[in-house]
Amino acid sequence: DWTSDTFIDATIAELKQKLGNDKVVMGLSGGVDSSVAATLIHRAIGDHLTCVFVDNGLLRKNEFEEVLESYKNMGLNVIGIDAKQRFYDALSGLTDPEAKRKAIGRVFIEVFDDEAHKIEGVKWLGQGTIYPDVIESVSVKGPSATIKSHHNVGGLPDFMKLSVVEPLNTLFKDEVREVGRALEIPENIIGRHPFPGPGLAIRILGDITADKVKTLQEVDHIFIKGLKDFGLYDQVWQAGAILLPIQSVGVMGDERTYERVVALRAVGSVDGMTADWIHLPYEFLGKMSNEIINRVKGVNRVVYDISSKPPATIEWE
Ligand code: XMP
Repeated sequence: DWTSDTFIDATIAELKQKLGNDKVVMGLSGGVDSSVAATLIHRAIGDHLTCVFVDNGLLRKNEFEEVLESYKNMGLNVIGIDAKQRFYDALSGLTDPEAKRKAIGRVFIEVFDDEAHKIEGVKWLGQGTIYPDVIESVSVKGPSATIKSHHNVGGLPDFMKLSVVEPLNTLFKDEVREVGRALEIPENIIGRHPFPGPGLAIRILGDITADKVKTLQEVDHIFIKGLKDFGLYDQVWQAGAILLPIQSVGVMGDERTYERVVALRAVGSVDGMTADWIHLPYEFLGKMSNEIINRVKGVNRVVYDISSKPPATIEWE
């Protein structure tokens, strides 16, 4: 029978055997999967693992600093890179969701490759791939979409020429969490909701500016903190706020305002493939709306998304 302890012991032994004295580089996202994978590799090879955590300027409020601090406390050898401006420059003027995703993916590869380059003799790329990702990449994208090991194709970034080590590729999400808890990874990392790689860029409909990111970070922060304060966070699979590309009329004192609309979204799901909107208490939603409108400059209207997937998706882009 599967238990997290036997999995951990067997995996660390296997990693030691496989990696020997080799060096591994790995990108961390702040999410559960990459954090658990990195911790296992670290237990096996210690500081022969170098982790890279990139601030793409599209993370949640204070996320980069807080998560970097957690990683350091966990003993991981982690390099934090502020690449905000590189991402904003690449996103400048882009409005199409797929174009935004591609730009973010490209810049991430550039930034990561720069760092991987600095590690003398690195042989392996660590990844937090879990079982559902394996299935999805085979059935949706085809096996060629997965990064192949030992394929020295010219023109690929250097880190793609590395062999891939994926210690979680037989596990489901709940098993990854169980392993993470057994490894004593802090709850602020283990219990966190999934968050998309392109981050807030796909929750700002239309083009991205640093100002819009700041506005959305404030709104999102109020909502997520509210969910935690009201004991609702753990009942929700994923939640966030979306900055809409429209303004609406409002009134403040005897002034007419013309400001932004934000949507709040909270869904229940098992794997993200299907999802139901969560019936958050009206009292809570009312409180969130007041707080957001009172505290976030430039926002005068809050709506709640009551669409399920399918036919809606979780993200709006
Ligand atoms: P959708 O919007 O397709 O989202 O219902 C399903 C799950 O996938 C996440 N998502 C992404 N994750 N890169 C990611 O790493 C992406 O481009 C991306 N788009 C959506 C979404 O947050 C949800 O958990």
